Amino acid sequence: MAKCGFYVVGTLSLLLLVCSVTLLVARVFQKAVDQTIEQNTVLKNGTEIFDSWENPPPPIHMQFYFFNVTNPDEILQGEDPHVEEVGPYTYREYRPRENIRFWDNGTKISAVNPKSYIFQRDLSVGDPEVDLIRTLNIPAITAMEWTKINVLKEILEGLLKTYQQKLFVTHTVHDLLWGYKDELFSLISIFKPDISPYFGLFYGKNGTDDGDYLFLTGEDSYLNFTKILEWNGRRSLNWWTSEKCNMINGTDGNSFHPLISKDELLYVFASDFCRSVYLTFSDIGNVEEIPFFRFTLPPEMLANNSDNSCFCIPSGNCLGSGVLNVSICKNGAPIFLSSPHFYQGDEKFISAIKGMNPNKEDHETFMDINPLTGIILRGSNRFQINVHVRQIDGFEETGNIKSLVFPVMYLNESVLIDKDSATKLKSVINATMVITNIPYIIMALGVLLGLIFTWMACKGQGSTEEGTADERAPLMRT
Ligand SMILES: *[C@@H]1O[C@H](CO)[C@@H](O)[C@H](O)[C@H]1NC(C)=O
Ligand SMILES: *[C@@H]1O[C@H](CO)[C@@H](O)[C@H](O)[C@H]1NC(C)=O
Ligand SMILES: *[C@@H]1O[C@H](CO)[C@@H](O)[C@H](O)[C@H]1NC(C)=O
Ligand SMILES: *[C@@H]1O[C@H](CO)[C@@H](O)[C@H](O)[C@H]1NC(C)=O
Ligand SMILES: *[C@@H]1O[C@H](CO)[C@@H](O)[C@H](O)[C@H]1NC(C)=O
Ligand SMILES: *[C@@H]1O[C@H](CO)[C@@H](O)[C@H](O)[C@H]1NC(C)=O
Ligand SMILES: *[C@@H]1O[C@H](CO)[C@@H](O)[C@H](O)[C@H]1NC(C)=O
Ligand SMILES: *[C@@H]1O[C@H](CO)[C@@H](O)[C@H](O)[C@H]1NC(C)=O
Ligand SMILES: *[C@@H]1O[C@H](CO)[C@@H](O)[C@H](O)[C@H]1NC(C)=O
Repeated sequence: MAKCGFYVVGTLSLLLLVCSVTLLVARVFQKAVDQTIEQNTVLKNGTEIFDSWENPPPPIHMQFYFFNVTNPDEILQGEDPHVEEVGPYTYREYRPRENIRFWDNGTKISAVNPKSYIFQRDLSVGDPEVDLIRTLNIPAITAMEWTKINVLKEILEGLLKTYQQKLFVTHTVHDLLWGYKDELFSLISIFKPDISPYFGLFYGKNGTDDGDYLFLTGEDSYLNFTKILEWNGRRSLNWWTSEKCNMINGTDGNSFHPLISKDELLYVFASDFCRSVYLTFSDIGNVEEIPFFRFTLPPEMLANNSDNSCFCIPSGNCLGSGVLNVSICKNGAPIFLSSPHFYQGDEKFISAIKGMNPNKEDHETFMDINPLTGIILRGSNRFQINVHVRQIDGFEETGNIKSLVFPVMYLNESVLIDKDSATKLKSVINATMVITNIPYIIMALGVLLGLIFTWMACKGQGSTEEGTADERAPLMRT
């Protein structure tokens, strides 16, 4: 009887070891987990994924930093501008999805994403209704640019001559962001009613959306989860000079597909950036014990290279690395976007403005994403709004100013996963860890049985050597 147990233990040990190695090599449990995640990452009414897509639980904060001009008179005489950074002015951002509708058997979903902003005094340096910022007179500069292209050339020139505008103006933070009634724009709007008499960097953006989106739900493939199919009814943009640059790629940056690998490019279409961008892998780490891959905006994104030449308009008119001329999608206002403080931009932009101090930690755009689920743990979307100024013939207001990409404001839109979501995510990750570790548990059992087997074998040899020989004999006879 003891003999039988002895062989059972040995065989079982061998079987368990072979089985565990097979499972490990074939990645059976890993594949099962991946497949479950792939199949469940779909926008379906009533699921948790859908709910958190519709109303993202983690708090989003929008922080604005302004550049206060200290030497306006000297700038008009051709000296380098000197600016002082003032901020943050922090707003809590709410962005629910609305008008949600499923299409084509749940493979597509359309929605709008209105954003609203509530001021947070305790996270800000001052009161935006009181604090004054001196900066460029963007409406006047815009109107001067319009004279080059606009049909209202004579009227505009007349207005600009009659109502001599200063090149630098002082307004409150609130007015600069959310809009003030501008004298010049008010006059222009009499002749051209589609021009608003109000100007503000975020004018009309509180409580409104940036257009209709049509997404894929991920029903056909998890890789297409929340991928944008159409924006405002169009599959591509028409501002840039090549098909590639006009492509609407990836998601809107609020969600990503699961099972992210280090070597992929994560595409995001950013409507306020007027183009698609991509993020690349740069680092790994943990937030609240949840592992993440850090993806960042690579310097090639705004580099002066052949891939980006289609963003230089008019064609061939590249200004250098680190800036994007978005005038064409901002109603002709000479707006240039860049990273804050021209981070990763050409040295000429940085050194032209006294007060620029680019650094990775404060000025980089990044996303910390859990690679298994694609859930964003932490992220900061940072960019700077600049105005291109130059001397314009016939307008004394511009003085002897140098041609400059002049920084006005930058923003940091950041998100950090909330405690509730983190706890839920951690339990999902732990469950998958248990499942993917089953082969190791089986292997451990096999090793244990192997040890018992060895122990039995040694014990048997020591005490019943004769008996063993006797019993082997009949076996050999048969
Ligand atoms: C989801 O289901 C609920 C309840 O059945 C329904 O009221 C709601 O309209 C559905 N939402 C969508 C987007 O279909
Ligand atoms: C929707 O599903 C039904 C049944 O599964 C199928 O007959 C129909 O063709 C599908 N429609 C579309 C647009 O895919
Ligand atoms: C934005 O709109 C909301 C709701 O209408 C309002 O409470 C909030 O004060 C507004 N924010 C700003 C910055 O005007
Ligand atoms: C910005 O500069 C102006 C002019 O020097 C000054 O009056 C104002 O207080 C400054 N604003 C802040 C917020 O420091
Ligand atoms: C969805 O994903 C599959 C596989 O990755 C891809 O072949 C297909 O083109 C995608 N569909 C769309 C509409 O992008
Ligand atoms: C969009 O993605 C394609 C590859 O799928 C790429 O060739 C193209 O450059 C991308 N366009 C932009 C603007 O990112
Ligand atoms: C941009 O790159 C092109 C070609 O590589 C080069 O000829 C041009 O001088 C560069 N422009 C600037 C402003 O750096
Ligand atoms: C920016 O782009 C617009 C076209 O939308 C163009 O008219 C303007 O000259 C460009 N600005 C510079 C400084 O290249
Ligand atoms: C946003 O970025 C600024 C600098 O760019 C930094 O000082 C601030 O702490 C950031 N805010 C958050 C919430 O990460």
